[in-house]
Amino acid sequence: MGSHLADVWFQVTDLQVVSGHGCYVTTADGTEYLDFTSGIAVTSTGHCHPAVVAAIQEQAAQFIHAQVNCYRHPLLEVLADRLAGIAPPSIDTFFYANSGAEATEAAVKLAKQATGRPNIIVFQGSFHGRSHLTMAMTTSKTGYRAGYQPLPSGIFVAPFPYAFRDGHSEDEAISRALDAFDLLLASQSGPAETAAVVIEPVLGEGGYLPAPPAFLQGLRERCTEHGVLFVADEVQSGFGRAGTMFAIEPSGVEPDVMIMAKGIASGFPISAIGASAELMNRWPKGSHGGTYGGNPIGCAAALATIDVLTAPGFMDNVVARGEQLRAGLRTLAETHPTIGHVRGPGLMVGCELVDGNGKPDAARVAALAAHCREDGRLLLMNAGTAGNVLRWMPPLVVSAAEIDQGLAAFTAALESTA
Ligand SMILES: Cc1ncc(COP(=O)(O)O)c(C=O)c1O
Repeated sequence: MGSHLADVWFQVTDLQVVSGHGCYVTTADGTEYLDFTSGIAVTSTGHCHPAVVAAIQEQAAQFIHAQVNCYRHPLLEVLADRLAGIAPPSIDTFFYANSGAEATEAAVKLAKQATGRPNIIVFQGSFHGRSHLTMAMTTSKTGYRAGYQPLPSGIFVAPFPYAFRDGHSEDEAISRALDAFDLLLASQSGPAETAAVVIEPVLGEGGYLPAPPAFLQGLRERCTEHGVLFVADEVQSGFGRAGTMFAIEPSGVEPDVMIMAKGIASGFPISAIGASAELMNRWPKGSHGGTYGGNPIGCAAALATIDVLTAPGFMDNVVARGEQLRAGLRTLAETHPTIGHVRGPGLMVGCELVDGNGKPDAARVAALAAHCREDGRLLLMNAGTAGNVLRWMPPLVVSAAEIDQGLAAFTAALESTA
């Protein structure tokens, strides 16, 4: 009998998995794979962390669905309070949704209502989701948008500094990108028509490419000057992935709105946007909502996840494992010139592969990922417009021995696919 499953999902592997624990997933025949995809940067505390499992089980016996328009369950406020404690000081009031795309839609709807302006600026290489609005905001690959035109209007795209690819110094890349942003404001969407800029502090799908702090600061200054809202999409980079609770923190930039999903609840589908109370109060009552937002099990999973992430020493492990991973990859780069660039904060590590002419080498990335999976029992994904970046996004609970295991599998793949 044929499958009754839609065939639309792109597949990274054809593995049939039956369980996951910590950094490993297990297939039906009992084979274990080291899962450095984390289900696309989601299983922050590892698969089935006992504290998250217990919180979900306990909450499921109390309430599975307590619809936010009909009545309020206690965890809505408890989670909002907890999020306010870990978010940048500018963010203290929260709205809940279910996925990253939905939260991005919510952020744009808030920005339009709060400013009374129509347009949004995004950055080259962005990925914000699969809904029509978020497809229009997504520029990491045409494949995400092809066949769906026309997409919503009012989205403008500014360059994202990419020093390595453009052959610029970091300073030059930043200054060129800020000049281009100013030009966009002067020539395409003036401040009076621009509600918000939406930026990933580390490009995710676009290639695990960090936005330099000076670029974020320059954008923040311009947003403040023009009354444009600064929206940080921390869907992929948030909740410890970058070695700090949110990737924007080291830049000192305080966003007006922050979008959160993925790692927030270790895999239970819940997302949120945060803003100041003053900004949220400009969102007219009833002008947005949703059946499932603020689901009690999602809130419980998020609270348990945040407890794990904020436990003493947890973030030290993320930082140390990230350093270990980047050091290992940089050592390999010394003898394998195909590794053109190793980058990214915390455990959001990108490894860009190039051919002998310095051009993107997606075929090599595909061959390496296949070898890692088949011979090394290591799962990795690619990223980048050209598909030539291997992204390393292990669960944040990864151990030193597991990083070494991943590096050993990758070394073997490099040597046998040369
Ligand atoms: C930065 C970013 N924003 C938004 C999204 C969309 O999230 P979702 O797939 O949960 O809709 C993603 C998903 O990869 C993402 O990486």
